[in-house]
Amino acid sequence: MKRFLAFVFAVLALSCSRERPAAWQLSLDEKLAMTHAQSRFSSAGVPRLGIPDLWWSDGPNGVRAEALWDSWAQAGWTSDSCTAYPALTCLAATWNEPLASEMGVCLAEEALYRGKDVLLGPGVNIMRLPTAGRNFEYMGEDPLLAGKMASAYIRGVQSLGVAASVKHFALNNQEKARTRVDVHVSDRALQEIYLPAFRMAVQEGGAWTVMAAYNRIWDLHCSENPRLLTDILRRDWGFDGVVVSDWGAVHSTDAASAGLDVEMGTSTDGLRDNPEATDYSAFHFAEPYKEKLLSGEIPEEVLDTQVSRILRLQERTNLRPGRSHGRFVCPEHSALARKVGEEGIVLLKNSGVLPLDTLKALNILVVGENAIKKMAVGGGSSSLKTKYEITPLEGIREAFPLADVRFERGYVGDAGEVYWGVSAGQDLSDSRTPERLSADAVAASEGADVILFVGGLNKSRNQDREGRDRLSYELPYGQDQVLEALIGTGIPLVYVNVSGNPVAMPWAGRASAIMQAWYLGSEAGEALAAVLSGRVNPSGKIPFSWPSSLADTPFYGSERTCPGILREDGHIMDVYYDEGIFVGYRWYDRAGVEPLFPFGHGLSYTYFEYSGLKASFRGGRLRVSVVVRNIGTKEGKETVQLYVGAPAAGDGEAYERPEKELKAFQKVSLRPGESRKVSFEVPVSGLGYYDETLSRFVTVPGRYSIKAGASAGDIRLNKEIILTER
Ligand code: GLC
Repeated sequence: MKRFLAFVFAVLALSCSRERPAAWQLSLDEKLAMTHAQSRFSSAGVPRLGIPDLWWSDGPNGVRAEALWDSWAQAGWTSDSCTAYPALTCLAATWNEPLASEMGVCLAEEALYRGKDVLLGPGVNIMRLPTAGRNFEYMGEDPLLAGKMASAYIRGVQSLGVAASVKHFALNNQEKARTRVDVHVSDRALQEIYLPAFRMAVQEGGAWTVMAAYNRIWDLHCSENPRLLTDILRRDWGFDGVVVSDWGAVHSTDAASAGLDVEMGTSTDGLRDNPEATDYSAFHFAEPYKEKLLSGEIPEEVLDTQVSRILRLQERTNLRPGRSHGRFVCPEHSALARKVGEEGIVLLKNSGVLPLDTLKALNILVVGENAIKKMAVGGGSSSLKTKYEITPLEGIREAFPLADVRFERGYVGDAGEVYWGVSAGQDLSDSRTPERLSADAVAASEGADVILFVGGLNKSRNQDREGRDRLSYELPYGQDQVLEALIGTGIPLVYVNVSGNPVAMPWAGRASAIMQAWYLGSEAGEALAAVLSGRVNPSGKIPFSWPSSLADTPFYGSERTCPGILREDGHIMDVYYDEGIFVGYRWYDRAGVEPLFPFGHGLSYTYFEYSGLKASFRGGRLRVSVVVRNIGTKEGKETVQLYVGAPAAGDGEAYERPEKELKAFQKVSLRPGESRKVSFEVPVSGLGYYDETLSRFVTVPGRYSIKAGASAGDIRLNKEIILTER
């Protein structure tokens, strides 16, 4: 209560007229201190008035280990080993909004226990390049799926008084030159593809903070971009929260007037040459800002507006009466982490070899470094120090007690990741040559009933990690050669891919089964084994298209579109999103190219039949229903996807529309033989395109194609209906 009263006084002090006692007035220095970092992960409160500091913490799928006051290095606590939940691409692959909210609540409980007020996630940047380094932290290629899942996650996190921070606003779609790239994108692609997930996070998720990205757009850094932070975010979308910079993403005090509220990170001019320096007065929102305020160059109203937003954030978080103290690493959190993994794992291909029978004395050979490697510590700022992490091999051995489970390394990738002092505590060094490793794996396969190859990427440098994109689409460390040798034995091979990005799989046609297993966190082995054994029927669907090769995408043909063209100054890199709105399945449909696996694809151990599609426009809404029936022998979950193809618009059909766009989805659980009518309602306004001359969305009358599908490449039912009025 005391804190809340302090908040009231402070707001009064800010908004009241001058005659209030000076003691209630926030001084200029007190107000300035609230707008920038005072340590690596905190910004100042007002001790005199009992207003606490604000504590910010990564990351999207777990509460990061405690850092030293002035450094990225770890504080070496013994009480900050968290539960690692699956990375958010896995969460997106569940297509389960209630589950996303549940994960948000668990994350908030762990953040509260650790004294954190803002959790720096979710990341919702659209997957444009299948090789971008942080796709594993984001939620795929479709703005509706990303927006819905992120909004559910945010509602969960914020329900306990911890703020989410939807990031990175906007257009962080590659890691290459991420602080120097200037993105050139059409207003239409910006509004139809790259912004909607952020808009939904604000308007449907109610995000209390937004993190401004490192890159530029319209030749201005996002953190000091008035069109982005004020016109779009606040005026158009009604955002009333705090905009925080990415760490070191502020380049001038202009950011204050542009709409940025809190400057975090180092790399400011005063600290650039010594990122470990502690001179926070050099921050752009410190002494330089004070000078501009005192000289009148920047009116004090700008500062007061920032501080009122920060106080509102504190009223919502650390000044909220009765806020829970949370809890850390408990059985319920482990169960939720496992459930997200089980529901996010995607069965991409199955010749019938899966599920494996746990009651048989099978001879199982497990091959691959990713079967034994702990992944949570890698990835960059989402790195986690975990209380525990069950590896795939451990999970498989536990799930198949009657089987003879043997392991062969197969290849050596990253022998031991240490990230800012946090280590997985593994020494995976192995002196054998690649040839020896492969030969040993083939030799060990003698007599095996099935080979489980657990490979993929590993969140180390260029392999799904912040700051660097992948340098190729192929699997690293010679995995393809080992896979070819093992497939050559004729023993059924199940390939389990651990990654946040698609990868080339030239042998896919000869693998008996393929599973996408994501970065699953603390319960990785349990979740994977549950699906391999059939204890859990897989229901995940990939939130991105899986091209056979990068040549099938529109990005890699020219430097202009990826990674961009370096300017004369050798600093800024201009990247052009020439493909416009045609990203992901929108591109493959238009190009007539069939990806290896389509967006929204995921098999089950049962089968679903669709029937009775009904669709109509009534009362300004598109109303659709379809009946889904489980025609197999196992209970299972199906995500029904509603796609809509709209008529082209504009003079000479200037506004070409994608063949189809995801407009709604619903996940249903059905027992064998059970049917369910799934209904959707989409406002007609949600079927529009962004008209660049009118600067707004427009829905045109005409013929609409309504499609119900199990994926973008598996449209089960389709009907055309006419919209007569706008
Ligand atoms: C990093 C990341 C951002 C993270 C922040 C704090 O550079 O871009 O996602 O939350 O800094 O670690």
